[in-house]
Amino acid sequence: MGHVGLNVTAAILVKATIVMVIAVFVLDSSFTRRALTLIKVCHICELLGDRFPYACDLCDLSFHKDCAESTPEINYSCHPIHTLKRLTSVPSYIDGKCYLCGIKIHNVFYHCSICNFSVDVDCAKNPPLYTLFNPKAHGHQLTLLPRRAFVCNACGMDDDRNPYICVECNFMIHISCINIPRIIKISRHVHPICYNYSLPAGKWKCEVCQKEIIWTCGAYSCSKCPGSAIHVKCATKFGIWDGIEHEDVSEYSEDFSSYEVIEEGVIKYFGHEKHTLKLKEESDANDECKWCKVCRYPIFSSPFYDCMKCDAFIIHQKCAYLPKKITDSFYKLPLTLVFDTYGLCLCNACQNFFEGSAYKSAGNRVSLDVRCGSISEPFVHESHPPHSLYIKYSKGEFCNACGDKECLVLSCEECEFFLDIKCSILPKMVKHKNDKDHFLILRYGEKTREQFWCEICEEDLNPNKWFYSCDHCGITFHIKCTFGDFIWINPGGEAESTYMVIPNNYASRPVCNECDSRCQYPLFLTETGGRRARIYNVWGKF
Ligand SMILES: *[C@@H]1O[C@H](CO)[C@@H](O)[C@H](O)[C@H]1NC(C)=O
Ligand SMILES: *[C@@H]1O[C@H](CO)[C@@H](O)[C@H](O)[C@H]1NC(C)=O
Ligand SMILES: *[C@@H]1O[C@H](CO)[C@@H](O)[C@H](O)[C@H]1NC(C)=O
Repeated sequence: MGHVGLNVTAAILVKATIVMVIAVFVLDSSFTRRALTLIKVCHICELLGDRFPYACDLCDLSFHKDCAESTPEINYSCHPIHTLKRLTSVPSYIDGKCYLCGIKIHNVFYHCSICNFSVDVDCAKNPPLYTLFNPKAHGHQLTLLPRRAFVCNACGMDDDRNPYICVECNFMIHISCINIPRIIKISRHVHPICYNYSLPAGKWKCEVCQKEIIWTCGAYSCSKCPGSAIHVKCATKFGIWDGIEHEDVSEYSEDFSSYEVIEEGVIKYFGHEKHTLKLKEESDANDECKWCKVCRYPIFSSPFYDCMKCDAFIIHQKCAYLPKKITDSFYKLPLTLVFDTYGLCLCNACQNFFEGSAYKSAGNRVSLDVRCGSISEPFVHESHPPHSLYIKYSKGEFCNACGDKECLVLSCEECEFFLDIKCSILPKMVKHKNDKDHFLILRYGEKTREQFWCEICEEDLNPNKWFYSCDHCGITFHIKCTFGDFIWINPGGEAESTYMVIPNNYASRPVCNECDSRCQYPLFLTETGGRRARIYNVWGKF
């Protein structure tokens, strides 16, 4: 008690002192008067200010530092044709920015009215090199050519207007791209990536921002993953690159790739080492109903690897390139790719049962299917093009796709847009027995007052939420009716565990042990050899 009393007294004392100090400040009116007299006008730029390091007491003149140190004209190395004149107000025809550094011009700057060229005092004092030679960037001398819109040959961007150019080679580069690191390790790709002056001709998409890469310009690529490329700006961004440049790819002694390139278009996959696999771009009609051994989803029209000997071994190209080891985005654990789990697994991110390959932690405490294992931040989803999504754990957010409340979501805080994990991996294209001729396409909700019905359950469908539709037939489907509870299971598949998933085609529909209602979906889970139907409820109680 004694201590508390002392503390209170001390607090009162401190408060009293503060009040006294404030009183002294207010009473010192000479202080206020002095502050007022400090505000003056700069004799050159005529702007008000209170900090004038240069002054002439005799004539009562004050000058800003930049103004006093400037001369009315300069000869400027980066604009040698004309002298630049000092200006103290921005003419209406210019945008008020320094042409070299892009920073807003303050009180004084230099300008050439013939060429509409302006530089701030900092760039006037420290001009960038007019010519430079750096063999890492280009084999010849480069010359600065300010004020020219251009696409940088080194990074493919057009966000600066001051190229260094090599006339001989018609080569243009940003000053910031002169020292692009050659080999780097980034958080968004398992292997080290190398800078290349150009990519093989074709359509390329950046693995980080998902936007197009101009293949004739420089970009990062991976020697292990033939399809992957990353913009220079995206790869070297803070948070993605650790800032270290490496000399040699072989520094990374451990190889996490799941395959070995035998020759162009031919690989050996770690889950099928006895034969080689060949890349095919288009699947013929027979392949359409083939299922990928890794993700257990049909091949449809995506490129895939087909075993050159066996009939049944076929995997998506993107599944073949999945790394053998990852640090997952949900639990931040080192996980290892297990080629075939032989049986059903429950994914600890989307909570779906799955078969096929899995990412598993030591001791199998965490299992992720390959879809969730591949989720990394920032996550880009076609349904929310303006912003990237980030993993969020909360008390519960409503998923924009299905309306369920989930604790684990991918979120864009800016737009309050949330996707739960099971919806974030929904396939874009689906084949369903109710529309044998066409693919159903995933729709990300539509703003409409029209009435929609589900082709399967014949009940209302809320068009503001996600659904599947076939444009040819003009029919729409609930997501949960399209898949039932076992979206990632190939019915009657090869599951060899105590549970298996079988088609719900008995004369009477089995009653679920979980929810006590008759199963209305196409598949149900049952104990092998037993008769007990168990429905694992992914889509909420119904
Ligand atoms: C700029 O260069 C011209 C010609 O070379 C010279 O006459 C002039 O004095 C120079 N001006 C300044 C401010 O250095
Ligand atoms: C001068 O340059 C600025 C900046 O690029 C531009 O916004 C402006 O339109 C130009 N003015 C003229 C008259 O060309
Ligand atoms: C270009 O990229 C390939 C991999 O795509 C790599 O093997 C090669 O070394 C790169 N070349 C340069 C000059 O970095």
